[in-house]
Amino acid sequence: MDRGNRNSDKPMHILSSSQFDRAYLDYICLLTDTIRRFDKSKEGLLYLKGLLAHKRAMLYFTQPSTRTFLSFQSAAQILGIATSEIRDSATSSERKGESIEDSLQTFSSYVDIIVMRTAIPGLCNRIASLLDESERPVPIINAGSGPDEHPTQSLLDIYTLNRSFIRDGGIDGKTIVMVGDLKRGRTIRSLSSLLTNYKDMRIIFVSPEEYRIGDDIRQKLTQAKVHFEETDKLLEVLPFADAVYMTRVQDEYDVEGESRKVDYSRFHLKHEHLKLMKEKSVIMHPLPRRAELDVAIDQDPRAKYWRQERNGMWVRVALLTQIFGVDSKIVLPEL
Ligand code: CP
Repeated sequence: MDRGNRNSDKPMHILSSSQFDRAYLDYICLLTDTIRRFDKSKEGLLYLKGLLAHKRAMLYFTQPSTRTFLSFQSAAQILGIATSEIRDSATSSERKGESIEDSLQTFSSYVDIIVMRTAIPGLCNRIASLLDESERPVPIINAGSGPDEHPTQSLLDIYTLNRSFIRDGGIDGKTIVMVGDLKRGRTIRSLSSLLTNYKDMRIIFVSPEEYRIGDDIRQKLTQAKVHFEETDKLLEVLPFADAVYMTRVQDEYDVEGESRKVDYSRFHLKHEHLKLMKEKSVIMHPLPRRAELDVAIDQDPRAKYWRQERNGMWVRVALLTQIFGVDSKIVLPEL
């Protein structure tokens, strides 16, 4: 992705993880690390709060969210950005028959950026194109679009992996085991796409037959010459994992309760499985979790999912500074 894009007449949208290249990922990780240094002092935090105090953001989240909503809201607060929100289309004029397109165009009249979570795949792209042709184009951030994409989650996942392997050669050459409902899990899809930017990766997809990864992801990995395997035997592959990325069954996309017919218990990571894993491996989960990730694992030093949440807020701070072109003002103060 061209970081100079913000200088074009079109705003910089964040729509898909496929728009990020290795240089961009390295840059966002470095920028996030640098921004976190400002969190160490009141002066640093006040500096960040002044960077975008003249901007306003709309958080349009019509699909449930805890982490993504709160981390974007907190990231905006850190940068001084005022936020408005809609969390249920039933409370907006969509209830009166207004189209989603008209609703989003209306938000663009009041704010400088729109962060969207929606159940509708492709909607963010459609709105970005629509606004690009309007009198007031504003950046659109896809904060999760149905079973399709979750590009900012994949950025925080990469940041978490990068930090975890910082003293061990980085992400290149690592084995990542992804577990669960791979067919409908947007975090899996977006992260798989980002991993094509790294060298000598081995990805092992572990899922029930019904929830295997989609053909589009297989094609993308094949094209990028990323080595991947598919299995339903979690315990057999755990010893190879540098990172295990657990996910829950995405039954909100069931049509007729079909998830109830799938035995998901073989895809649960239990405390007793930890002994099969490398001492330096990491365990991740985008959360929320259910039974697939044993709470007894929380105390293990390999558990990184709570850190993922915190990392997500700081990655989103970095992203917002970059979208609005104030990332150049993130220079470490004299200590
Ligand atoms: N990881 C994630 O997207 O969580 P929320 O659904 O709570 O935002």
